[in-house]
Amino acid sequence: MHEWLANLPKIELHLHIEGTLEPELAFELAQRHQIALPYPSVEALREAYNFADLQSFLDLYYQCAEVLRDEDDFYRLTMAYLERCHTQAVTHVEIFFDPQTHTARGIPMSTVIEGIERALKEGETRFGISSQLILCILRHLDEEDALATLNAALPYRDRIVGIGLDSGEQGNPPSKFTRAFDFARAQGWKIVAHAGEEGPADYIWQALKLLKVDRIDHGVRCVEDPSLVAHLRDINMPLTVCPLSNTRLRVFHSMAEHNLKTLLDQGLRVTLNSDDPAYFGGYMLENMLAVQEALNLTQAQWRQLTKNAIDASFIDHAHQQRLH
Ligand code: ADE
Ligand code: ZN
Repeated sequence: MHEWLANLPKIELHLHIEGTLEPELAFELAQRHQIALPYPSVEALREAYNFADLQSFLDLYYQCAEVLRDEDDFYRLTMAYLERCHTQAVTHVEIFFDPQTHTARGIPMSTVIEGIERALKEGETRFGISSQLILCILRHLDEEDALATLNAALPYRDRIVGIGLDSGEQGNPPSKFTRAFDFARAQGWKIVAHAGEEGPADYIWQALKLLKVDRIDHGVRCVEDPSLVAHLRDINMPLTVCPLSNTRLRVFHSMAEHNLKTLLDQGLRVTLNSDDPAYFGGYMLENMLAVQEALNLTQAQWRQLTKNAIDASFIDHAHQQRLH
């Protein structure tokens, strides 16, 4: 089964590019830019990846992102991720980036986008990996900041497929961003939002009703409201589930307790993704192997997860047919 999973073509729909920063590259860039990281060595940094919850992860994630300064840093970060994708038979990726993490430090949006894009183009020619970019709004900041960020992104409107919502979920409900997402939809962008990761089922309802999302990122806490599960199934709403992330951030105590298989059995449109693979112990294949070991899915269920991801992707229909 391991070999079969390794060779299975894969689609990734929930991946934060800043979350692919491996400690080795973080230290190399820190040295290059003369920036201090909060830990003295690669080993010490890796040992700090023992998170109590989402916020304790985010604190370190934002600190490490400070080493990303110039166009070449974003290029190298993205290229390293695409090289991993190539070794794991990942054929299409939809990548989140968090511009506010960088623009708040004085780094222009153009530096971030152009560095990432240069790698994505090279990934397409060298490896045949197709890709899309999704700009994520940081929900711990206010709606004015979100609107300013969306306005600053307008020159890149056609190079970004959608707008997402991420960062600390508790206390930052989707309702805080209704105007920003109205604006995003009016620009023709697709909409996604992290909801029901640490936050309650009600945040998933809000993402659906107020933000009018095309996909829910995570969504695993939907099971706390049976009427929501029924609704998600009725509207065939994709959920981008991230198993290693959920166990590392203690949304579930162990992979054996993860509800991915239950959600799939309930007929929900579940997809499997890696979220922040450098921090959570693995990329697509490691996520699949961890799920397989704990939950023992059938080959048909794995094919279903891949089919769900193709159908839920933001690529045109003709390209989707090629991925099937
Ligand atoms: N930013 C990066 N990873 C995240 C996650 N898992 N949840 C919310 N925001 C994030
Ligand atoms: Zn995420």
